[in-house]
Amino acid sequence: DDVSRQYISDSIRTVPDFPKKGIMFHDVTTLLLDPKAFQLSVDDFAARYKDKKIDIVAGFEARGFIFGAPLALQLKCAFVPLRKPGKLPGETIGASYKLEYGEDRIEMHAGAITEGQRVLLLDDLIATGGTLAAGIKLMKQVKAEIVECACVIELPDLKGAKKLDGLPLYVQVQKEGD
Ligand code: PRP
Ligand code: MG
Repeated sequence: DDVSRQYISDSIRTVPDFPKKGIMFHDVTTLLLDPKAFQLSVDDFAARYKDKKIDIVAGFEARGFIFGAPLALQLKCAFVPLRKPGKLPGETIGASYKLEYGEDRIEMHAGAITEGQRVLLLDDLIATGGTLAAGIKLMKQVKAEIVECACVIELPDLKGAKKLDGLPLYVQVQKEGD
């Protein structure tokens, strides 16, 4: 509800000019310091997805892991980490993307997600949408079914939701971009 959303929102610290001048950084470490805020966030996702037959929560390194892992436990489904390059020991498949600042690539183990599995793509924040767009590309490569993209925070000014190939985006709170 709105009270929970406001509580979650208020728990997130904003740090101006980090990591670069002109970037307003939304810092979820303060949310994590408050177990009530963290619980409200994970419970809200769990309530939304509990009857959606999610097979896999796929979370983006690093901050998407923090919210994705407890959510997968609540949903009693698998968790797949979408990792930055060179971290996974097995055979990988990947997709590259542009960040709000810089460029990066995500990888997962080949075979971790297979055709027809119902996947929830989860991250802490959507800014330009590049990260989630790469996740979508990756899911399409393996012909998984994306149920939805979900984030704690959206920066609507950056219009990232438009990069999601028409897929639905669910967010808990909106914040001002840069
Ligand atoms: C941040 C954030 C999102 C992404 C959003 O991750 O956690 O994953 O940027 O930006 P976008 O919508 O423009 O792609 P980042 O890679 O900075 O670092 P992290 O490892 O701390 O999650
Ligand atoms: Mg991230």
